[in-house]
Amino acid sequence: MAIIETKELTKHYILGRKKIVVGLEKVNLEINQGEIFGILGPNGSGKTTCLKLLLGILFPTSGEAYIMGRPPHDIEMKQHVGFLPENPYYYDYLTGPELLWFYAGLFGLDIDTAKKRIEYLLELVELHTAKRLHLRHYSKGMLERIGLAASLINDPEILILDEPTTGLDPIGCRDTRNLLLKLKEQGKTILLSSHFLSEVERVCDRIAIFHRGYLLATGTLDGLNKQYQAENLEDLFVKTICKFDNQQNVTTGETT
Ligand SMILES: Nc1ncnc2c1ncn2[C@@H]1O[C@H](COP(=O)(O)OP(=O)(O)OP(=O)(O)O)[C@@H](O)[C@H]1O
Ligand SMILES: [Mg+2]
Repeated sequence: MAIIETKELTKHYILGRKKIVVGLEKVNLEINQGEIFGILGPNGSGKTTCLKLLLGILFPTSGEAYIMGRPPHDIEMKQHVGFLPENPYYYDYLTGPELLWFYAGLFGLDIDTAKKRIEYLLELVELHTAKRLHLRHYSKGMLERIGLAASLINDPEILILDEPTTGLDPIGCRDTRNLLLKLKEQGKTILLSSHFLSEVERVCDRIAIFHRGYLLATGTLDGLNKQYQAENLEDLFVKTICKFDNQQNVTTGETT
């Protein structure tokens, strides 16, 4: 059974009286327990919109979303979910451990559990040597790692990560990748969005390609490559997107 599911999930942003922007259009997704699932797509394709709808941060125009069979506003379900937003904002004058204590408080962890969890997470993301450093002195990679640690504070079964490797150098990307694989080994389900094809290619069991709010393709990389006669993910990405754009131009009568 799918642990994350969307049914005809749609979000239209209404800008002024006449202008409507399609954030997501009738998306049907099924993500299985224990897999790393990657949502891929160019800028503005609806990746963040989809994740925020699943988490109940945005309300859908129509359609349904479920995590563990429960709707996005279900508080009980949120105890089992961790989220790393695209551009998180952290308090500059907190240290890493202080930030994690703050998140532990939000989840209502008792002091002993929080203490153990924070020690464990700081080691996991290799920030245990920077315990006294304020977040304003963190590098981008360190901020990304403390964000990951914060998203894991409640030991979630499901981890939702919006562009977890943006701004990271190759070593940072590799470390994040290894961490995700380790979390998968622990049985966690990971849904991530990215436009770094090589990262996705290495870590994801299945992928979905979004474009202009539409879900163009879903499946394993091998399966999709065969289906679209693509040589690799880059080729697949370009082929699915060009095919969609050409079809749109045919229906609207536009020429490119
Ligand atoms: N709050 C908003 N108001 C109006 N339009 C929005 C809003 N948020 C997103 N959009 C529009 O919805 C579409 C999808 O945006 P979204 O942020 O989901 O894309 P994305 O795939 O996450 O892009 P990126 O790779 O740049 O993060 C875009 O056209 C965007 O301009
Ligand atoms: Mg985004």
